Amino acid sequence: MAPGVKLPLTALKRSFYILNTPTAYILLTLRLSVTSGEAKLASPEQLLKSMTLEEKVSLVVGWGPARRVPGAAGETRPVKVPSMVTSDGPSGLRIEPTKERKWYATAFPVPTMLASTWNLELVERVGRAIGEEAREYGVDIFLAPGINIHRHPLCGRNFEYFSEDPLLSGVVAAAYVKGVQSAGVGATPKHFAANEQETNRVIIDTVVSERALREIYLKPFEIVVKEAKPWAIMSAYNKLNGKYCSQNEWLLTKVLREEWGFNGIVMTDWGAGDNPVEQIKAGNDLIMPGSDEIVTKLLEAVKKGALSESELDRSALRILRVAQLSLSYRGYRYSNQPNLEAHAQLAYEAAAEGVVLLKNEGALPLKEGSRVAVFGTGQIETLKGGMGSGHTHPKRVVTILESLRERLKVEEELSSAYEKYVLEKRGREFLEKIYYEEAYPEPLPQDIVSEEQVAKFAERNDAAIIVITRISGEGWDRRLEKGDFYLSNSERKLIEMVSRQFRAKGKPVVVVLNICGPIEVVSWRDLVDAILLVWLPGQEAGRVVADALVGRINPSGKLPTTFPRDWPDVPAAKSPECYPGVPPENPRVVRYCEGVYVGYRYYDTFGVEPAYEFGFGLSYTKFEYRNLTVEKAGDKVKVSFEVVNVGSYPGKEVAQVYVKAPRGKLDKPFQELKAFKKTRLLKPGESEKIELEINIRDLASFDESEKVWLVEKGTYEVKVGASSRNIRLTGTFTVENDIKFKP
Ligand code: BGC
Repeated sequence: MAPGVKLPLTALKRSFYILNTPTAYILLTLRLSVTSGEAKLASPEQLLKSMTLEEKVSLVVGWGPARRVPGAAGETRPVKVPSMVTSDGPSGLRIEPTKERKWYATAFPVPTMLASTWNLELVERVGRAIGEEAREYGVDIFLAPGINIHRHPLCGRNFEYFSEDPLLSGVVAAAYVKGVQSAGVGATPKHFAANEQETNRVIIDTVVSERALREIYLKPFEIVVKEAKPWAIMSAYNKLNGKYCSQNEWLLTKVLREEWGFNGIVMTDWGAGDNPVEQIKAGNDLIMPGSDEIVTKLLEAVKKGALSESELDRSALRILRVAQLSLSYRGYRYSNQPNLEAHAQLAYEAAAEGVVLLKNEGALPLKEGSRVAVFGTGQIETLKGGMGSGHTHPKRVVTILESLRERLKVEEELSSAYEKYVLEKRGREFLEKIYYEEAYPEPLPQDIVSEEQVAKFAERNDAAIIVITRISGEGWDRRLEKGDFYLSNSERKLIEMVSRQFRAKGKPVVVVLNICGPIEVVSWRDLVDAILLVWLPGQEAGRVVADALVGRINPSGKLPTTFPRDWPDVPAAKSPECYPGVPPENPRVVRYCEGVYVGYRYYDTFGVEPAYEFGFGLSYTKFEYRNLTVEKAGDKVKVSFEVVNVGSYPGKEVAQVYVKAPRGKLDKPFQELKAFKKTRLLKPGESEKIELEINIRDLASFDESEKVWLVEKGTYEVKVGASSRNIRLTGTFTVENDIKFKP
């Protein structure tokens, strides 16, 4: 077939049916040009038949970094089909700059902030935009999203993950994956599974009960596999109950494929595991980034009979199938010009909906144009995202100070003192790195002004804004120390001084948290009048902060993860390896002793008060909930109610539905999130009717004694509210008999 000739529809359809991925967009828009038509028209099975043993082995071992797109994380080897380029995320596309060039990509808010939006349609649009950027830079497979659970509030990569709740994580991930794949690029939910800490991540053995595993840690993967059909899954570095995840047949074959029906490829995390032969045997099809040494090992293993050719064929065939879906196979001519302008606007929109207002005692919104004194180096070294493979290279980053200057009258004497200080301490080059590349800003003392100066600023300004920052990243966990989980001495001193001086003059103090994960707030929150949590909001950071402070954005984000009152309250802190350290220096094992009692499941069941609970978030307006109906119809429960904006600002509300199970054979958490919906923007007085469905099946817990999912008979309570602890309406339904499902 000559170059540029279109493939017959039937050939395309065949490969689409394999994975059932969205077809319309690709069919309509891709220009299919073909270089070796014969190979391309062959089915994966025919291609496999024509391959030598050496070729098959080369297909299952990758390269890293990528060669065709040099800054990308890895690539498969071209064997009968073109190679596939793989590149990181999840806060946007990450292609590392080389000496020759840069691949600018949009820095979207980190996944924890995407989950804070609770807006699935918006997350899908973000996924789509990221997929388009990947496509336009020649990337076939995007190495994200990360869907591990926020088990441990100090896990260094929590910002890359969505939530402590498996349902929220799973459905947000499904929306994200659908978005990415609708652009014609494959997605790779990772790290499968139970990879909830960075310390010793490549050797640690996660010991967890089958019930907790299935209900909490595997659940998001199960949801994303069933709802969004990702092209790939990345197995995790760690061991799971004694076996490396990438060498764990139970995980990769029995659960993932036989139980859930996954039919894409499983790839290793970069350099994971210790035995490539076991990896292929277990169902880990692609070894990344791979090496020639691994190719030789696999070849020898087949020759010696330690690995059967049919086991190798199985993985090779899966890779061929996915390769035939890829843009490279289709000869897509990428532009190298993603639409960064349009996506900047989307990054703003996504961050705007993920802002969580934690406290507001009449301080916010500030009047536009009012005079503000802004404290903290974060106004200048604003953090867009986290570090490690999840960082991004945007073309621009809007700092908090820049945007505050557009909306408010900033006390220039103070802000320019911070500017000078940051420049002196960091240097221009390092500062640019913080914005556009990957650099760890060692925390700086924040109290650079005297109390007399603060008093003067309090005199001539209407409000104080204090910016607090925290960053974390791949390869290291956060610390249970001052300056990380706790305020540093200088941050505390600053908050105390500012609070004293501004409050003495009746002027409010607002704290902006530009942070990667929960910090301790109880010991200082009474000193301030408002707390705005903006996580790591991506490249449009400043615009979002300024607009939320002045009310152009009405905060509508809700916490996807609990803020504990203090460390001993944290359920993960009770595991022997964790207590009292976080975790100890050289752990080999981490035991998930808290079982299913992760996040609010723990706090609510054991009566432990959090600082801010799961699902919490204030608004500048108020919502009322009305007219709940709960109806059991067949294998579903239908829940409907109304949300009314009874305040004076337009706003959106995240309505949450929790279910409390009856007492039965299995211990159950006090309640579990089973459905939710974010309303449209409701004007004052407007209402929205919300109709949700819960599958009876999704009420089940895993009964380890019988190895079945069990829905126990009895009366279930439906609790509808604005957070896990702010329940406004309740109803009930009854399940007549126990129901069991096979896994
Ligand atoms: C990370 C993965 C990432 C890979 C490729 C690993 O170190 O754990 O999340 O996708 O590197 O960069």
